[in-house]
Amino acid sequence: MEIIGRGFKQLMQESPMYFHMGLKYAGYKLFNKKSPFFASADIINVCNLHCKHCYWWLNRKENEELTVEQWKKVIDEKFKKQHVFIVFLVGGEPMMRPEVVELFVNEFPKRVCVVTNGTFPLPKFKNLYFYWVSIDGTQKIHDDIRGKDTWEQTRKNVINYVETNGKKASKDIWISMTINSLNYKTVKDVMEEWRDYTHKFGIQFHTPFMKDDPLWLPFGKERNRLVDELIEMRQNGYKDYLSNPQNQLELMKGSWGGKGTTPIDCPTWAIVSVDHMGREKMPCCIGSADKDSMKPRCGECGLGCYSFLVGYGIKGSGMISN
Ligand SMILES: C[S@@+](CC[C@H](N)C(=O)[O-])C[C@H]1O[C@@H](n2cnc3c(N)ncnc32)[C@H](O)[C@@H]1O
Ligand code: SF4
Ligand code: SF4
Repeated sequence: MEIIGRGFKQLMQESPMYFHMGLKYAGYKLFNKKSPFFASADIINVCNLHCKHCYWWLNRKENEELTVEQWKKVIDEKFKKQHVFIVFLVGGEPMMRPEVVELFVNEFPKRVCVVTNGTFPLPKFKNLYFYWVSIDGTQKIHDDIRGKDTWEQTRKNVINYVETNGKKASKDIWISMTINSLNYKTVKDVMEEWRDYTHKFGIQFHTPFMKDDPLWLPFGKERNRLVDELIEMRQNGYKDYLSNPQNQLELMKGSWGGKGTTPIDCPTWAIVSVDHMGREKMPCCIGSADKDSMKPRCGECGLGCYSFLVGYGIKGSGMISN
């Protein structure tokens, strides 16, 4: 028996965690008590790429970083105290700090997802949950967004990981595609190209930080058609591969999170997100700890992690719309 990639023994070992999750969910449903289920940490403030669509570069400032010992303190004080279930490691490029990844994986066995551009070799961490490898189109379009030869480098690293670590190793690799106006016609092809080497494929939509961002795929005909195609694929053989549930995909046709730059239905509280210095980011994982920084546009948001929760009825930021 396996549930969410976990065997019976592991499920038993983790039972206290499920108890906390159950309490959190009941607390939210019965008393509107908001306690985070997940966490995200920007473990590095450096990246080897400068992708066209990337929010992280928009607010990037200082160069300092936390040591492994300082991250351990953040883990204890921010994440463990709040009994978060899954932790997403982001950045910058998290694989440029494998020693911090190692720390998180040891502290949260089988509960850490590393979101990576895949251009560095992917080590086999014994207790990693999985790598979320970002792929933003077929080769030419991916390279146009992410930089020359990046597709080839990532492809090589993924295939190498699977071939070196055995067929089962493809379970450790999930693909994440951020859909925008440049790549939306390639989604089906990307799925086909990566299916043999990877376990799941998840999509989200580009979230703009400025009005009339040309990378944002507008609500309307083309976006609806793509979402409907994905829903149809789920119903015809891709249910086990495409990780987005149907209710989430439906939401992604339009505005589900908020208005202007204010979250309304978006459950910002459900994911505690810290930046490279361990400071809490607002309003969400793509925001910033600096209140004067550029803000994401909630009204046009396409982020996967929050819309997934809204799709399951976990919603309400607790903030007042302006
Ligand atoms: C900031 S990156 C950090 C991790 C790693 N460097 C990578 O590229 O996967 C995390 C994810 O955010 C996505 N992303 C970047 N800018 C975005 C935006 N404006 N809207 C939605 N997703 C975005 C990236 O494509 C990537 O999958
Ligand atoms: S690799 Fe990731 S963090 Fe770096 S620029 Fe691209 S999306 Fe942003
Ligand atoms: S995730 Fe939520 S808070 Fe962040 S931009 Fe989207 S709607 Fe706004």
